[in-house]
Amino acid sequence: MERTFIALKPDTLQRGLVGDIINRFEKKGFQLLGLKLVQPPRELVEKHYEEHLGRPFYEGLVNYMTSGPIVASVWQGKNIISSSRSLLGATDPSKAAPGTIRGDLATQVGRNLVHASDSPVNAEREISLWFAAKEIQNWSRSLEPWIN
Ligand code: PPS
Repeated sequence: MERTFIALKPDTLQRGLVGDIINRFEKKGFQLLGLKLVQPPRELVEKHYEEHLGRPFYEGLVNYMTSGPIVASVWQGKNIISSSRSLLGATDPSKAAPGTIRGDLATQVGRNLVHASDSPVNAEREISLWFAAKEIQNWSRSLEPWIN
């Protein structure tokens, strides 16, 4: 089982898509371990995107991510890091396949609705950046293992 960090960006809230997007992760079979609404301080967003410092989109991305509340979440599931990025679709929604979150619901890269960690190292780094250990529940499903 892997864990990942998923952030529903400010445009998800502005557009009233929080339930729709969380529903896609739940329906896929992923397990929610942590969830909260955060108005992130600029320093937190800068730390989150520190590997992109200096890129042409960096300033706009930080402004966008601090423009309103974000739904921060931790999820668990089999191959969830690559699988959740497949659910999201391509970074640029104009190139994202129909059926994906960005392919169905977004049109431009600067407003692409959702962030998902891109590697196990980044997943753990981002989870510890956004969540205290006590905010994450390690609960078990009393269902058949195949569903997970
Ligand atoms: S790379 O080159 O693969 O490391 O970068 P990439 O994964 O494509 O993008 C890194 C994050 O920057 C966001 N991004 C942008 N935001 C705003 N405007 C533009 N033009 C832009 N290009 C890339 C992209 O969505 C990634 O953020 P997250 O939160 O992971 O989606």
